[in-house]
Amino acid sequence: MRQYIIAGNWKMNKTVSESVILAKQIVDAVKDIKNTEVVIAPTFLAAAKVADVVKGTNVKLAVQDVHWKDQGAFTGKVSIDMVKEIGAEYVIIGHSEQRQYFHETEESVNLKVKKTLSAGLKPIICIGETLEQRNGGILESVLTTQIEGAYKDLSADEALKTVIAYEPVWAIGTGVVATDEQAQDTQAFVRSVMKNIYGESVSEAVRIQYGGSMKPDNAKGLLAQKDIDGGLIGGAALKSDSFFAIIAAAEAQ
Ligand code: PGA
Repeated sequence: MRQYIIAGNWKMNKTVSESVILAKQIVDAVKDIKNTEVVIAPTFLAAAKVADVVKGTNVKLAVQDVHWKDQGAFTGKVSIDMVKEIGAEYVIIGHSEQRQYFHETEESVNLKVKKTLSAGLKPIICIGETLEQRNGGILESVLTTQIEGAYKDLSADEALKTVIAYEPVWAIGTGVVATDEQAQDTQAFVRSVMKNIYGESVSEAVRIQYGGSMKPDNAKGLLAQKDIDGGLIGGAALKSDSFFAIIAAAEAQ
């Protein structure tokens, strides 16, 4: 049985003080959640303060990116040691916004994934197609390229420590959610690509989240799908009640 993982990606939202308030609300809301892994990803600036809030609770900390070099002259970047020191467990890597706006490539995703794993943290690897790619019939090749790129030179043991977030770009922040069937079919395909690379036991163990306009009213149907093991939530993670409703939907499966 794969454990559900619900992660809130706060993106460039919330000041440090607002982040602390939201983190406290979430910690309080989920204290009786036993079976679902709950993760929040504030901005880098708020991460250390939020780390203090979630310490010793059942909420885990993620950050939204990391650089692949250990240290040095990389203005504006944050290293894995910095992230590790504050107690983060997860790193979101390859989000479509990073790919679209900040020149993230298959190579940089792979470097960041390797650096994250080498420090003992777990990558949440984001993949997904644009509407043009889906309509153009290249959905499967786009996802295969992204998966093969992200997992290049990774062992099966390393692959087991990763989480995949399938996020159709056309569903992110748009309010247009993939149907249960579209998400299930695509995520089954993602699992089949993992099976081709690593074999059945790894592909059956790796968790695949759905992301893209997941909300309290559609979470239940999506999370009921066989190959959907959680969610990467943007907009609905910015309020504790809607984030909690999604977590409760996972917990009730
Ligand atoms: P959304 O964002 O829930 O606001 O669509 C999801 C994401 O980008 O991770």
